[in-house]
Amino acid sequence: MASTPAAAASSSSRSAARKQGLVLGVFANEKEGTPQFTNAGDAFDKLVSGKLRELLAISGPPLKKGKARIFHGLHQDFSNIVVVGLGKKAAGVNLQENWDEDKENIRAAVAVGCQQVQDLEVPCVEIDPCGDAQAAAEGAVLGLFEYNEFKQKKKPAVEVKLHGSDGIEAWKKGLIYAKGQNLARYLMEGPANHITPTMFAAVIQEKLKSASSNVSVYIRDESWIKAQEMGSFLSVAKGSVEPAVFLEVHYRGSSDASEPPLVFVGKGITFDSGGISIKPSANMDAMRADMGGAATICSAIVTAAELKLPINIIGLTPLCENMPSGRANKPGDVVKAMNGKTIQVDNTDAEGRLVLADALCYAHNFNPRAIIDAATLTGAMDIALGSSATGVFTNSHQLWNQLYEASILTGDRVWRMPLFEHYTKQVTDCQLADLNNIGKYRSGGACTAAAFLKEFVTVPHWAHLDIAGVMGNKDEVPYLRKGMAGRPTRTLVEFATRLSQDKKSI
Ligand code: BES
Ligand code: MG
Ligand code: ZN
Repeated sequence: MASTPAAAASSSSRSAARKQGLVLGVFANEKEGTPQFTNAGDAFDKLVSGKLRELLAISGPPLKKGKARIFHGLHQDFSNIVVVGLGKKAAGVNLQENWDEDKENIRAAVAVGCQQVQDLEVPCVEIDPCGDAQAAAEGAVLGLFEYNEFKQKKKPAVEVKLHGSDGIEAWKKGLIYAKGQNLARYLMEGPANHITPTMFAAVIQEKLKSASSNVSVYIRDESWIKAQEMGSFLSVAKGSVEPAVFLEVHYRGSSDASEPPLVFVGKGITFDSGGISIKPSANMDAMRADMGGAATICSAIVTAAELKLPINIIGLTPLCENMPSGRANKPGDVVKAMNGKTIQVDNTDAEGRLVLADALCYAHNFNPRAIIDAATLTGAMDIALGSSATGVFTNSHQLWNQLYEASILTGDRVWRMPLFEHYTKQVTDCQLADLNNIGKYRSGGACTAAAFLKEFVTVPHWAHLDIAGVMGNKDEVPYLRKGMAGRPTRTLVEFATRLSQDKKSI
């Protein structure tokens, strides 16, 4: 008779070790010979009379950064001890890479350790804070995420716990940051027939309800969108039978209710077929994630609410599908945005800027402290930077500095891109209308798209984040499995945290 894994384990185990994992870090030893454990690693090694150090030495060469090695039978509390390589100790901020190397190394190592534990179907794991409990928590929760909503066979859940009590507050913060990014990954990966505009709004409403009491959620329907004269957004939405939604969320975290809010705007195309300018069918499924801007900004607000950040934030997301049909935009059509500007739609696949134009106009109603939009806007952004960093187009040095500083800590990087008049000329030279929705030339497509958006902004602190390149992960970010990445949610959260602490700079 075939026995279940659980039955097999209980019948064959001689030691009474609990089914529990322990992930411990080890730094690259600069001097030959002895590995340099973390504090927790050292303490555990003492507890087992130096056995761990001994086993690590005889089991193979010194553990490389991001690699893991598993040991059994060392301690009754842990069936599996996973030692993970942290690389050089106190590596600090790497100014070539623009990130904090210690934090990135911890995220990567802990993620690998947790994945090993999960593969062995061990239901819970204690994690060495490795000197930065927030980074360790992020590595664990991000590393374990896998989307299997629609699979009968799912990866087993693993409960993660901090080993010891060093950095418990930072650990909790890391769990919340990572859970926020995982929410964005969940929404982006979700199939377009399930994550419709209506469903997207329902998920965010539900998450905000449980995160905080000082939130309001408005799910605006098409009659509201018409009344606002958002003709540009509507022109995209009308090609689909799926009703459009304009989702508006308010988080009031500041003790001063009248404090100007940070306004986030996110592109929410729940499926981008290209419309009449239809896309090639290869990999078109990835366009279910064309609401990545909406997913990351809404997840950042859910996270800010959970962290109870003392700041006011408003999130605005135009949600709809971009589909070809008898009612769809046609190349050469002219539409009118909320601010009265007319747009010639020469390519129906450049729909992101059409829906954002109206959302950006609407954002000005809130006396914003700053406006930040995020959008999977152009394939050209992916060609330019790939998945290394989000492209940031901004009219504000202060805003750039805050985003940049935040991204060094999160490791989810940003890179500044130009908003030159050079590109503006290429979208304002238009035969039938004030603006053309595509640039006159093919080159610099991410920049002409940003220049187009700039025509709908009058505030002094605005940043446009083109996240098309960081939308998905193949194997580039070691602590994210293959799939939609949810980037740069943590950078947005860190940015909001910084702004909540610094009421002067912006
Ligand atoms: N959603 C796409 C951009 C995109 C491409 C995001 C690949 C993620 C990965 C956007 O709506 C689009 O189709 N943009 C066009 C613009 C062009 C027609 C000016 C593009 O990039 O080709
Ligand atoms: Mg498109
Ligand atoms: Zn799109």
